[in-house]
Amino acid sequence: MAMESKDIDETPVEKIKILIIDDDANFLFGITRMLTRANYEVLSATDGMHGIQKAQLEMPDLILLDINMPKMTGFQVKMVLNRFPVTQLIPVVFLSALNDRANVLNGLNLADDYITKPFDADILIARLKNILRRIAPRYRQAIQISANATYSIETLQLWGQSVEMFDAGTAGHTLRVTSWAVALARSLGLGAEDVENIRKGSMLHDIGKLAVPEFILNKPGPLTNEEWKIVREHPRLGYEMISPIKSLAGALEIPMYHHERWDGFGYPDQLSEDKIPLAARIFSIVDVHDALLSKRPYKPAMDDLAVRDMIRSQSGKHFDPTLVEHFLEHYDSLRKEVENEFGKNNFSH
Ligand SMILES: [Fe+2]
Ligand SMILES: [Fe+2]
Repeated sequence: MAMESKDIDETPVEKIKILIIDDDANFLFGITRMLTRANYEVLSATDGMHGIQKAQLEMPDLILLDINMPKMTGFQVKMVLNRFPVTQLIPVVFLSALNDRANVLNGLNLADDYITKPFDADILIARLKNILRRIAPRYRQAIQISANATYSIETLQLWGQSVEMFDAGTAGHTLRVTSWAVALARSLGLGAEDVENIRKGSMLHDIGKLAVPEFILNKPGPLTNEEWKIVREHPRLGYEMISPIKSLAGALEIPMYHHERWDGFGYPDQLSEDKIPLAARIFSIVDVHDALLSKRPYKPAMDDLAVRDMIRSQSGKHFDPTLVEHFLEHYDSLRKEVENEFGKNNFSH
């Protein structure tokens, strides 16, 4: 008994974390003060994109979401959150001045509650408590379950491929790069476990793009600095999304480091040379190789020989020179192995 009470005394009570996404700074200030007084931990974001990223990184217990915001509406934010099994579970309450029937119904269909502004502070807190009591324990449990689950290769493949639905012109990319990465890893003599981790990591390499809004992923023109910054967050976001899943512990290097460069000019951590994990160095060659062979909204496809020249020219710059040499030397047999896995017809870009 003594032990028990000691444990209870020493365990800090974790506050319930609420994320507010609203573009109105005055409103944010007021509601933050109100919820902090009610003993909640409050995080905030003033637009949808930052809100989504905070949700990924912080995993709040509940999100209060405005609807009318520039760039992305609250409805669009909720739809992006729905793309990933974990953020899809975060309870969401719309908080909006829009009080017409159509918007309220749409909001109630998409999320857990809809509260119109202006509201009575006590009533808002009472409603949040209700939702937290009903939904939050289930949500926490679901996160626990997904953290401890082992996922089949087929499930990981579906997650990885779901990125292709939002990133135009990348259909088939996930499966092709996975095959190439596995073939290259095997030809380098890596062991079975490393090869399997490379397979999983390749499938999930761009999973962080699920947190990047579609209009940025598919923008035909050049990105603004701000948009580019968001795109460059996708490796870290991907890492944050899958690192709680224990069975994927060996497969995090590719999602996190596939945009690092041998010369240290990559992202997100500007690692260089063999500080970049081998799996990510292998993967970046096959990733760029496939992207160059493919037609994308912003560029035509290149032919095979030009692609190989390009990769050769990036030896020691973008890529590990030893790996480039090996890749080019074994190119025909690697391609044969990949084609055998797919059948020649499914292999086209
Ligand atoms: Fe990427
Ligand atoms: Fe890729």
